[in-house]
Amino acid sequence: MTTQPERQAQLRLVVVGHVDHGKSTLIGRILHDTNSLPDGKVEELKRISEKRGMPLEWSFVLDSFQAERDQAITIDTTQIWFRTATRDVVIIDAPGHREFLKNMISGAAQADAAILVVDAEEGIREQTRRHAYLLNILGLKQIAVVVNKMDLVGYDPARFQIVSDEIIRYLADIGVSPAAIIPVSARHGDMIAERGENLGWYQGPSLLGKLDDFDRAPAPIDQPLRFPIQDVYKFDERRIIVGRIETGALSVGDQLLFSPHNLLGTVKTIEAWNNPAPVLTATAGQSIGITLEQQIFVERGDIASHDENAPILTNIFRARLFWLGQQPLKLGQSLKLKLGHTETPVSVQAIEKIINTQDLSNETGHEIVRNDVAEVVFRTRGLLALDEYRQIARTGQFVLVDGFETVGGGTISMEDFADQRASLKSKSSNLHGVDHLLTPVLRTQRNGHRGGVIWFTGLSGSGKSTLAMRVEQRLFHKGFQVFVLDGDNVRSGLNSDLGFAPEERTENIRRVGEVAALFAQAGTVCITAFISPYQSDRDRARRAAPDCFYEIYIKADLAVCEGRDPKGLYRKARSGEIKDFTGVSAPYEAPETADLVVDTSSHTIDQCVEMIVGAIEQQLAATLIAEAS
Ligand code: ADX
Repeated sequence: MTTQPERQAQLRLVVVGHVDHGKSTLIGRILHDTNSLPDGKVEELKRISEKRGMPLEWSFVLDSFQAERDQAITIDTTQIWFRTATRDVVIIDAPGHREFLKNMISGAAQADAAILVVDAEEGIREQTRRHAYLLNILGLKQIAVVVNKMDLVGYDPARFQIVSDEIIRYLADIGVSPAAIIPVSARHGDMIAERGENLGWYQGPSLLGKLDDFDRAPAPIDQPLRFPIQDVYKFDERRIIVGRIETGALSVGDQLLFSPHNLLGTVKTIEAWNNPAPVLTATAGQSIGITLEQQIFVERGDIASHDENAPILTNIFRARLFWLGQQPLKLGQSLKLKLGHTETPVSVQAIEKIINTQDLSNETGHEIVRNDVAEVVFRTRGLLALDEYRQIARTGQFVLVDGFETVGGGTISMEDFADQRASLKSKSSNLHGVDHLLTPVLRTQRNGHRGGVIWFTGLSGSGKSTLAMRVEQRLFHKGFQVFVLDGDNVRSGLNSDLGFAPEERTENIRRVGEVAALFAQAGTVCITAFISPYQSDRDRARRAAPDCFYEIYIKADLAVCEGRDPKGLYRKARSGEIKDFTGVSAPYEAPETADLVVDTSSHTIDQCVEMIVGAIEQQLAATLIAEAS
């Protein structure tokens, strides 16, 4: 008597490859060889084939499933099951299924492993490369390559070697090493379930043998909690917050943070469906409802986490994008992004690279056409809660929609951009603001002008410091209370703990924005001269002094600034001596709606000073009489 081997966790599999390379035949064959076809299916197909006067093709199995699927409405019928010696395998999407790529990029189909099918005669083709690239973007590491139709090349080991080498080379270039490369004939069943007679020279595992080796991706319970809120139901007085826990775990009594609104609430109860006993803890993969101790504002699209290890909050991020739209995606275009249960408009701020998945070259361009892979920067209006894909895949992935149509999808990276959560949080509580006894009007009357923040932004070498000091001098002699906060100066004192990483620049600008607002409140004209490369940071500085903030773009092209190179820093940056140098190896987001643009490459210093002084006088002095009276 043989003992039954212990069964392993179910494996979720995708089968990809160039059209006509034999995916359907392969799946049909697997289903047959594993006795997974419903009773009578083969006979039925044989009958149909005979009637049509053609030999039975295993791909007919898939066609007949497809026909059933087309009529069905439940998603489950897109899934095909079979059993190997040691486990159940579910093919979570099948060729011919039109939504295949869309499901993959949207994360609707989370696979553990993939089979990449290549035709032994044809070798790798356009779609082989594109699919392999996509698997890699999506983080699928367990890939078995099947070199199919070996019967058509006489089971020739030399031909197998040539095709294998070609695949290995391409996969190596995109950083993937296949788990196995297996010669098979799906039509004849060689090296699928059985080894067959014809491939005696091949020493590796058969396809099903290899599938038994693959690991099921571990349930992400050890990751930080991500509980995207799908809905909030009201029953009587109770509000039940429902969704599926994507990663981590939560327990009754836990304090949860709801992003992006940043409200805290304590879990009072967990309502798990079909579970009469009280549930105290719920983990990744479970769909649950919770109630909170407090009545706080929570809505569909929020992501609940613990306070520590919260998702990133940002209105700008980088994406690796797969575009499926009929129309090209253009620079500056707006469209709708879905991330979990959030839907929000985004605009394409930059198209950094368009990647040719055939030869892996890349180019820049202003539009991304159907089936292109590209690296882009997206901007949203409000703050969005998200994760980096490589940290937490489920909340680091998005789809783009146009009406009801999925037109693209991708994965998120925050390289070069800071988490804006850090600058939102106040660590202190129990604070009570104190009112000044002096009004702004009294200060204005004494000084003869209003206080304000004159915010200069521009590349290093654009002329910010030079102009700031000259404007300060002019205004002083005109009787203004005025002071310059300059990047290099402030960084050697107040901000001497900060470097140039995105988070540090954000903190630099946050502090300066707050200090400048205090100067303005004190009645002074505060001129700031900081690169301040991120629009979101400058917007926050504006919010610190909303009524008297003027953004001035000190404009000069990178080439002009680099030509001037007053401190020799561009030279050092180009030689790699300085890392993360703005314009060279770190981004600069020029303002789109500055209050004033001063082009220092086409104007003299004196002309620029005149323009700025004139604008300040108009804003801060001209209102004096109206305001003071
Ligand atoms: S900001 O990006 O955080 O606004 P800030 O204006 O304070 O920068 O400081 C910029 C100044 O720091 C530059 O004028 C330059 O003299 C110096 N500096 C040193 N390293 C860098 C760097 N990696 N990128 C930009 N500026 C740098």
